[in-house]
Amino acid sequence: MLDNDIARILITEEELRRRTRELGQQISRDYQGKDLHLICVLKGGVTFLVDLMREICIPHSIDFMATSSYGDATETSGVVRILKDLDIPIAGRNVLIVDDIIDSGLTIAYLRRILLERQPASLRICTLLNKKERRVVDVPLDYIGFDIPNEFVVGYGMDFRELYRNLRFVGVLKPELYRS
Ligand code: IMP
Ligand code: MG
Repeated sequence: MLDNDIARILITEEELRRRTRELGQQISRDYQGKDLHLICVLKGGVTFLVDLMREICIPHSIDFMATSSYGDATETSGVVRILKDLDIPIAGRNVLIVDDIIDSGLTIAYLRRILLERQPASLRICTLLNKKERRVVDVPLDYIGFDIPNEFVVGYGMDFRELYRNLRFVGVLKPELYRS
C-alpha cells in the first residue's frame, strides 16, 4: 500500500475540497466578464486543475505545459526546460497559471517570464501549495491554497519518482524513502 509510505497527512481530502471551492469562487468573481484561460503545469498540477476548474462558474478554456522536473531528486536543479509547449496562443488572453506547489520558485519564475513575452492581457499565478521558506527567487503569487512547511509532500497529483499522485490527500513522505 502506498499509504504505508506516508509519515502523516498534511491536508485532508475535505480540506482540499473546501479550499479549492473557495479559490474557484474567488477566481470566478475576479474574472467575471473576462476571457479567462487556465494553464496547467504538468503533471503535478493536473489534479488541482481538474477540481479547480469545476469550481469556476464562468466560461474559460484550458491548456497544458510541461517543464523538466527534478528527475529522481527531491530538490530543483535550477535548470528549467520546456518539454511540452502550449497548444493555444495566449496573446491578449487573461492567463492564470495553475500549479501544484511553488518551492524554490525557479520553475514558475522562468515560466512567467517566457509567457509574459507572448503578451497576454494579464498573467496571474494560482498555486495549491506554497513552501515559502524555500523561495530563492521572488515571484508574485496571486492565489495560494495553503502555505506549508519545508517538507517533501506527495499526493493529490504530486509525486516522488512518479508514484503517489493518486492519493486523495497531501501527505508527507517518510524521509527514509528518499534519504537513501
Ligand atoms: P521549484 O522550481 O523549486 O519551485 O519547484 C517546482 C516544482 O517542483 C513543483 O511544481 C513540483 O512539481 C515540484 N515539487 C516541489 N516541491 C515538491 C514536493 O514537496 N513534492 C512534490 N513535488 C514537488
Ligand atoms: Mg509543478
